[in-house]
Order: sequence, then C-alpha cells, then structure tokens
Amino acid sequence: MTKISSIEGRILYNSRGSKTIEVDVESEGKFLGRVCAPSGASVGKYEAVSFPNGKPEESLRILQENSQKFIGLESSDLKGIHDVLKSLDSSTDYSRIGGALAFAVTIASMESASKAAEQPLFKTLSPEFSFKFPFPLGNILGGGAHAGPGTPDIQEILICATGSKTIEDAIETNLAVHKELRNVLENEDSDFTNGRGDEGGWAPKLENQKALEVSAKACENLGFTLGKEVSLGVDFAASTQWNEEKQKYVYDRAGFENSTGEQIDFAANIIEKYKLIFAEDAVHEEAFEDMAELTAKFPNILVTGDDLTVTNKDILIKAIDSKSCNASILKVNQAGSLYDALEFANIANQNNIKLITSHRSGESTDSQISHIGIATKSKMLKVGVVGGERIAKLNELLRLSEHDLIRGMAEI
Ligand code: PGA
Ligand code: ZN
Repeated sequence: MTKISSIEGRILYNSRGSKTIEVDVESEGKFLGRVCAPSGASVGKYEAVSFPNGKPEESLRILQENSQKFIGLESSDLKGIHDVLKSLDSSTDYSRIGGALAFAVTIASMESASKAAEQPLFKTLSPEFSFKFPFPLGNILGGGAHAGPGTPDIQEILICATGSKTIEDAIETNLAVHKELRNVLENEDSDFTNGRGDEGGWAPKLENQKALEVSAKACENLGFTLGKEVSLGVDFAASTQWNEEKQKYVYDRAGFENSTGEQIDFAANIIEKYKLIFAEDAVHEEAFEDMAELTAKFPNILVTGDDLTVTNKDILIKAIDSKSCNASILKVNQAGSLYDALEFANIANQNNIKLITSHRSGESTDSQISHIGIATKSKMLKVGVVGGERIAKLNELLRLSEHDLIRGMAEI
C-alpha cells in the first residue's frame, strides 16, 4: 500500500502547440506518475469540458489550492481520488475544474501505483490474468476538422491490419500502407506537398471518393486484399457536416448536400464499396435512430459512436437501448476521470459493445492509453500511424509484446 506524498502540476503544450496541463503524482516520495492531457478538435457536444473557461491555468490553480486533499490517499484508490475530484466539481461535465485535470490526476495516480507495485499499468487497471493486443487503427488520409481547405470533408480514412497475427506485423503493415499511399498521391498529383493533417494522415487536395480510391489503391499495390490482410475504416465525423438549420449534411469542400436518408446511403455505399471494417459517426451526434439503421444493416462491421457516445455511460445506455451502435470509441478525456471511463468500459463490455480506445488530435507523447486499451479489452487502439506523439503509443505496444501476460491479437 503506497500513499500519495505529493501532487503538482504545470502548463505544457500538446502536439498542436496548444496549452495543456501535466500532473505529477508521487507516492512514498519516489514512485512518480506523470501525465499530460490531450485535447480534441472535433469535440462532441456532450463531452467533458477540457478547462474552466478554456484556461489550463485555472485548472492548475485549482490543483495547487487543493493538493492537500489528495495527500495521504492510496495512489491505487481510483475511486477515492475520483471522489475528491467530484467534491471539487459537482457538475456533470467537469466545467469547474476541467476534464483535463481529472484525466491527468487519475491516470498519474494509477501510474504511480503501478510503479510502486512493480507491475505494468494495464495490470494495475484490470484484475485479469490474460490480455490481448488491440489492433492498431491509424489515420492514413485526413480532412475535415483536422486539415485545411481542399482536403476531403471526411475527417479520417484509417487502416487496420485485420489479417495480422502479431502486434509487430500489425504495426509494420499500417506503416507500409501509409508510406505507399504517399507514392500513390505523388503519382496522382505532382504538386502534392506531402502535407499531413493533425493526426499524421496525408492531407491531399482530393474530394472524398477520390481519397477513398487512392487509399484502396495503396493497399492493393502492396498485394493486400481489402477485408483480408488489411481493412479500411472511416471516421465520417458527420456532426462537422450537419447543419441544424437546413437539417442537411453540407459537404462544403465537395459541393453537395445530403438529406438524412441520402447521408445513410452515402455512408452505406462507402462501407460496401471499400469493404470497411470500421465506420465512425456516419451520422450526426444526436441521430440515434439513423445510427441504428446502419447498425442493423451492417452487423459484421464496427458501427462506432464517438461524438454519439462521448465516453458517457448514460449516453451509452441510451445508445444500447436504441441499438444505435455495436462499437464505441473510448476517450478518457471525453469522460473526464479514468474512473468514469472505466465505468463506461464495463458497461460497454457487459453489453457486447466493442471498444476502440482512442487518442485525440492534440496529443502528448505519453503512452498510458496503450495500457488503457489493453486493460479495457479494446478491439482496436486508434492512435495514428506516424508522428512522434502517435508512434509513442505504438512503440509502447512493442515494448509490451515482451510481456507474457499479453498473448495474441483481440478478436474483432
Ligand atoms: P478529435 O478527433 O480528437 O479532434 O476530437 C478525433 C475523432 O473525431 O475521432
Ligand atoms: Zn471521431
């Protein structure tokens, strides 16, 4: 049993160059847990607020003023630490202290506890004795809120090495497709600058369908068959296109508009044509019935909620009741504290909702989410393919492959 002996914070920057908070939790004066909070660009309406009034400095001040409340708690007592945070902020969205603070304090405490127990974080987070690797799912081509004008309206085209038997092969295959896609893009457009979006996916001036075609071509050039060795996924992030006034999805860059029915057909055609394994937020974040239509139509692919479910257990229960998805993104900072996120994961696992633990577009170089993905029995880990802050999560999986508690790949 180790008790928290100090807790401190500081202001740092995320991968987008925006200010964020990092928290150090130390137990027994020597076991350091250190976590820097990420943040999103395509943020769900109902997710936790990152910082009070948008100011990381306010979260830091609140931590400094209340640090004594954490001292002496067991660093492994996630519920106790969560309860202190809730005593400081009774709102449902962490708007008083900031979800980023709840994220950093809870994960740093558990990291400190796992160092004291001399075991990896994933083991501290789960009572199981046998674990599997989630399949890495990474952005190879991006647009929407993650890249500039001229890029696709669709936010992310993703690769997943669904045929891989080992984590090493799965990572290497994703990297090969990302590299080959650059060759395809250079052949398509001699002016392609090799520009990349916030998550490391290429950001070419291409409309949606063409972007999907070149992504499929990169896989085929390497001798892969879509749906076998590799599969594509799409994060439509359709709330970005949804126009409440017009009640339509407005594709500014491609120059068309979809009614609700047309949007469902648009997504269904892409799912079928490119044999997707994964389709995220194909309709907007409050369209539970439209998502249910897609879920019924495609029982064998991961019809996934992100902005729809926002790692919020009450919203997940609503999605389960209305059969709106068969999979959900888990982003700890959407929930706020790790305790909230693990409660969400339990409900998902008990109801056969497949989990995909995910990074944010504004990331730190930390790698605790790789452990969280393993501990929550996630089927996939959505952490990008390249970029220092993305590779950090993948490299952690490779380190963990030396661990004999983790055997083989998850069953999707
Ligand atoms: P965000 O995007 O981190 O910018 O919110 C990621 C996503 O929508 O999955
Ligand atoms: Zn998303």
